[in-house]
Amino acid sequence: MSTRPRTAGKLPLPELLEMKRAGEKIVMVTAYDAPGARLADAAGIDLILVGDTAAMVVLGHESTVPVTMDEMLFLTRSVVRAAKRPVVVGDMPFGTYEASDEEAVHNAVRFVKEGGADVVKLEGAGPSLSRVRAITGAGIGVMGHIGLTPQSATVLGGFKAQGRTAEQARRLFEDALALEAAGCFAVVLEAVPAPVAARITEALQVPTIGIGAGAGCDGQVLVYHDLLGLYEGRAPRFVKRYADLATGIRTALEAYAGEVRSGRFPEEQHTYSIPEDELAEFEALLAEDLQGDVRERS
Ligand code: KIV
Repeated sequence: MSTRPRTAGKLPLPELLEMKRAGEKIVMVTAYDAPGARLADAAGIDLILVGDTAAMVVLGHESTVPVTMDEMLFLTRSVVRAAKRPVVVGDMPFGTYEASDEEAVHNAVRFVKEGGADVVKLEGAGPSLSRVRAITGAGIGVMGHIGLTPQSATVLGGFKAQGRTAEQARRLFEDALALEAAGCFAVVLEAVPAPVAARITEALQVPTIGIGAGAGCDGQVLVYHDLLGLYEGRAPRFVKRYADLATGIRTALEAYAGEVRSGRFPEEQHTYSIPEDELAEFEALLAEDLQGDVRERS
């Protein structure tokens, strides 16, 4: 692994190619708000994905399908305000690019123009190839996403690893090459056997970003809430928890509630003072007002 000097400002997209060539791993994480994006930026993360996983980890849905374009734009704007260096990837939600190239371009443009995203991501190959060509043709970078594509989990038979037979693995390999040929600047490989992902990574010029696809990918992505232990639902096998913030947050909230109820919070140090003479005058004013009220009523 070699480490090239970091350029100042926004990470230029072509640097991802150089990172691949230099064997320098690319790090992507999801984020959905300004505090998360600010911390990711401070931690030196290369790409922030405003993922449609927001539907589950932020908005409380059971799948990624219900999140809307307007909700994604709202979240993207919050991330963009705080992410100075990382490339911000807007994840095109289900239903915003399937119908036609025109609609795909329209919504990709919204991500860039209204959301402030640098590039977009969409799922699948096949019909998505034409969408990739159309969006890149409009001057917007596209990240591909194959393997387990959560927007079509029902058709795939659930949230299952993909490419586990020779035929399926070959299909994934061809899809990855086709996405590169269509113009993708990178391809996410989700829940793909490590040797298959490594073979795809070798064959592509553009970087692969793995999630449950092994160490042979050019980069890795994890969902913010999963890696920080903020999401209390069942995490997929490929998640590594680097913290248990849910427990920390719950413990802190319980302590706060307990102290409010017992009167231990707030203490003197959490309050503001008023000079003695002002307080005395305030009391005198209240007394005058009270006397006036009594006079008016009698
Ligand atoms: O929406 C998302 O968070 C994603 C990642 C899991 C790659 O697509």
